[in-house]
Amino acid sequence: MIQNPDISKAMTIKLEAIFSDLPARPEFVPGIRRAPKRHFSLNRQDTELALKNALRYIPEKWQAQLAPEFLEELTTRGRIYGYRFRPQGRIWGRPIDEYKGLCLEGKACQVMIENNLDFETALYPYELVTYGETGQVCQNWMQYCLLKLYLENLTQEQTLVVESGHPLGLFRSGPGSSRVILTNGLMVGAFDDQENWHRAAALGVANYGQMTAGGWMYIGPQGIVHGTYSTILNAGRKELGIPADSDLRGRLFVTSGLGGMSGAQGKAVEIANGVGIIAEVDPSRIKTRHEQGWVSQIADTPAEAFRMAGEHREKKQKLALAFHGNIVDLLEYAVQNHIKIDLLSDQTSCHAVYEGGYCPQGLSFAERTEMLKSENARFKQLADQSLKKHFELIKILVGRGVYFFDYGNSFMKAVFDAGVKEICKNGRDTMNGFIFPSYVEDLMGPLLFDYGYGPFRWVCLSGKKEDLHKTDETAMQCMDPTRRFQDRDNYMWIQEAEKNKLVVGTQARILYQDAQGRVNIALAFNELVRKGAVGPIMLGRDHHDTGGADSPFRETANIKDGSNIMAEMAVQCFAGNAARGMSLLAIHNGGGVGIGKAINTGFGLVLDGSARVDEIIKRAISWDVMGGVARRAWARNENSIETVAAYNQTRAGSDHLTLPYLADEILIKQLVGDIFK
Ligand SMILES: NC(=O)c1ccc[n+]([C@@H]2O[C@H](COP(=O)([O-])OP(=O)(O)OC[C@H]3O[C@@H](n4cnc5c(N)ncnc54)[C@H](O)[C@@H]3O)[C@@H](O)[C@H]2O)c1
Repeated sequence: MIQNPDISKAMTIKLEAIFSDLPARPEFVPGIRRAPKRHFSLNRQDTELALKNALRYIPEKWQAQLAPEFLEELTTRGRIYGYRFRPQGRIWGRPIDEYKGLCLEGKACQVMIENNLDFETALYPYELVTYGETGQVCQNWMQYCLLKLYLENLTQEQTLVVESGHPLGLFRSGPGSSRVILTNGLMVGAFDDQENWHRAAALGVANYGQMTAGGWMYIGPQGIVHGTYSTILNAGRKELGIPADSDLRGRLFVTSGLGGMSGAQGKAVEIANGVGIIAEVDPSRIKTRHEQGWVSQIADTPAEAFRMAGEHREKKQKLALAFHGNIVDLLEYAVQNHIKIDLLSDQTSCHAVYEGGYCPQGLSFAERTEMLKSENARFKQLADQSLKKHFELIKILVGRGVYFFDYGNSFMKAVFDAGVKEICKNGRDTMNGFIFPSYVEDLMGPLLFDYGYGPFRWVCLSGKKEDLHKTDETAMQCMDPTRRFQDRDNYMWIQEAEKNKLVVGTQARILYQDAQGRVNIALAFNELVRKGAVGPIMLGRDHHDTGGADSPFRETANIKDGSNIMAEMAVQCFAGNAARGMSLLAIHNGGGVGIGKAINTGFGLVLDGSARVDEIIKRAISWDVMGGVARRAWARNENSIETVAAYNQTRAGSDHLTLPYLADEILIKQLVGDIFK
């Protein structure tokens, strides 16, 4: 059988090409958040397998030294991260010219990866977690090193294939093909559950990509601020009777979470001119958001929080207030003291409750972290108890007229899993959904996704602020704020974006746009690059979009033809974008709702100013959006039907999308009623 020296000789891209000696053991910068220990439950045989798997990256000369170290990581942290291979100090998305590479896309992907691992943007940078408690760029630092080396060697004639963070290799393709295609955590149906996933992750064969973490397109919490702003603004319009041209002044929004995505809530409520209280148990996250100016004040007791909120509310002044404590304590106080709340939500990481995403009432953040190390059963019991109480308090508040919506964090599913059947519409199971609306079902789905409005974004790879300024101005010139109220909201957003100091990490911007808006802006940006007015740009979007995610409790929660349990839209989106030559493609299991509950896709497109890229923009971007709108139209969503009907006219001779005929409801009810008499 072939031996290690021959294996080493057969590869040029390998760890020994980067390190002549084994790098020193790492020093962890104090104050940087660390992931809690992930549950270690492998049996003896699987533990051996996990070690052998990790050693696949390691040349023989280092194996004896690293094997015990990897075993220690596995048993004490639940995963083999290979800390030793992490470069010392801060990693960050530097200007693209500072990266080595044989093509622009290879360098651009390195910027994106490193931005996802920046101490400033990443949740647990040492464990390669960007956000959402478990969303990783890749599984371990050996993969990171190899990915970088592969990207440095990637040419316009090749495609890099990445499976759950593992670079499978460079395969010949061509300039019109995608440069990087990555998949994360995709599992065979029969094994597509939490238990098998935990085993696979501990074995080192599955990465939880979340969305833009594993898709390398995270742009800090800004990525979510725009969506959060639109969501709470539209919640106010829908439920509080706020006119379309007004905002949330004088209204109170109560919620929780100042983490990766949830950290956007304070900023969003301030941009909408409202008052927000955001409960957060982790003091380090409050500190980060406060330092960034994303929350303006901090309260240590519910009484203080509601007093300060009340004052601002009366004066109609905006306020983003962090309450240091548990959301359940905050709501308990509001219920006991009959405090008037207008809008209520929750953004604890309920897609990963038992991994620590939800801190039970009665435990401090430090106690929760300690308990996760060794008392998983007790943690589960406390989390379930807390979720039940949380639900009871929300029920009381809703009874008093508060509008509660689930923020796509699987809160309602978590309450159900904790044993509360009453949260289901049918009082039995989740088949017919839940008694409270989810933000996509009520707000984002019908008002944004169904038209094709979604979280379009770009990164100025030069790292220059002036480039971002120019792109903001160019985007504004492409927009017509008088077309629809969504366009006006988006215009207001981009007009104020620079002033609102949203950038954390790379010079990036998010801007909700529909298909035509995205195409127009992308072409205008590519022209800017062509003229040399700005450096290259990475375009992309969150996976959380019109056509990017099949997720029945979230993005596709307003698909009501029964097809919300299908994952074909996301898979088609991925395949279609690959066929049309997007630079970077990603498809993941799980996303923000958990393994087996969603399939989601994203893309990146590097604008280099070429005519080739103009063609990709025209072919791929409208497909990326309209594939989703067409599916929504086929599910009989009214706004999508209108959007597709108009698209068929403007694109006559080019595209043609199928529309559904509508059935006579009375006829159907009569006919079916006769059978079920
Ligand atoms: N913002 C969005 O638009 C959006 C969209 C879809 C889904 N989500 C979901 O929202 C959730 C949060 O995402 P994230 O990236 O911010 O995750 P995160 O883990 O980075 O942040 C969650 C925060 O909640 C805090 N927390 C946990 N339990 C708490 C409790 N009982 N009381 C107060 N604070 C508590 C944690 O300390 C943490 O800081 C995820 O489930 C995500 O999928 C958000």
